[in-house]
Amino acid sequence: MIIFRNQNLTQEEYIKFGKQFGELTVHPFATSLPDHPEIIVLDNDGNNPPLSTDQWHSDEMFREEPPAATIIRSTITPSIGGDTLLASMTAAFDGLNPALKNFYANLEAVNDFKVFRALYEGTYEGRKKLVEMEELFPNVSHPVVRIHPVNKRPLIYVSPQTTKYIEGVRDFESEQILNMLYQLPEIPEYQYRVRWEPNMIIIWDNRSTQHYAPRDYLPHRRRMERLTVKGGKPFGSKKKMKGSVFKMNIRGTDRAEKTGSHRKNLTRPSTNMTKNR
Ligand SMILES: [Fe+2]
Repeated sequence: MIIFRNQNLTQEEYIKFGKQFGELTVHPFATSLPDHPEIIVLDNDGNNPPLSTDQWHSDEMFREEPPAATIIRSTITPSIGGDTLLASMTAAFDGLNPALKNFYANLEAVNDFKVFRALYEGTYEGRKKLVEMEELFPNVSHPVVRIHPVNKRPLIYVSPQTTKYIEGVRDFESEQILNMLYQLPEIPEYQYRVRWEPNMIIIWDNRSTQHYAPRDYLPHRRRMERLTVKGGKPFGSKKKMKGSVFKMNIRGTDRAEKTGSHRKNLTRPSTNMTKNR
């Protein structure tokens, strides 16, 4: 991540700055400026608290191609609190026991825009919109250990904000594995804490880091403007353990049809018995 202090830019200048790092994208769920859809406005206070920013995550992991970088600038900083914490998920991977590195490197996780589902009401219209978003952003599998496309270093890539489950293992195993991984960014040695000043711009690598924005400034006001730089499809290591591609579907309808009790046209044992007689 890089910090730029005392940058009193217009919104046009800010967008121009952001475009130097790549193509800017528009967030499908966040509020952006009508004139500048690339700018997401994060304007929160006691009456409008932020939505689940107090969870470790990389931005937009629910996308097939999550952003490469996130840029944030401060326009109104609270008198107390409102820092942004970042964690190096590369350092989190490096700190693991080699046996665990190997184990996690063979797993894939299913990701969903689950945190943003709360934006849709339970009304007919709300549910209809949610279905439209589900079609635009279907669940995606990402490797649990992602290889950074530039420095080629492995890093942990799951988050409670988007990750639903680990593929190919049972539910209780998935929960335990994810709980272990979710604790990694909480280790202070992997963290950096940004104390905001007015007119500060920060840019972070959204592939190798996760971030967390505490809600400790409420009810004070904190206003930030975010830009998002397009990224590519995450990939894992090609060197996987033999026989480690877990494609067994132990969840969902396939299994129910093969082994479950809700099969259509199920022949009742009693009928067979009658025939046999
Ligand atoms: Fe975020």
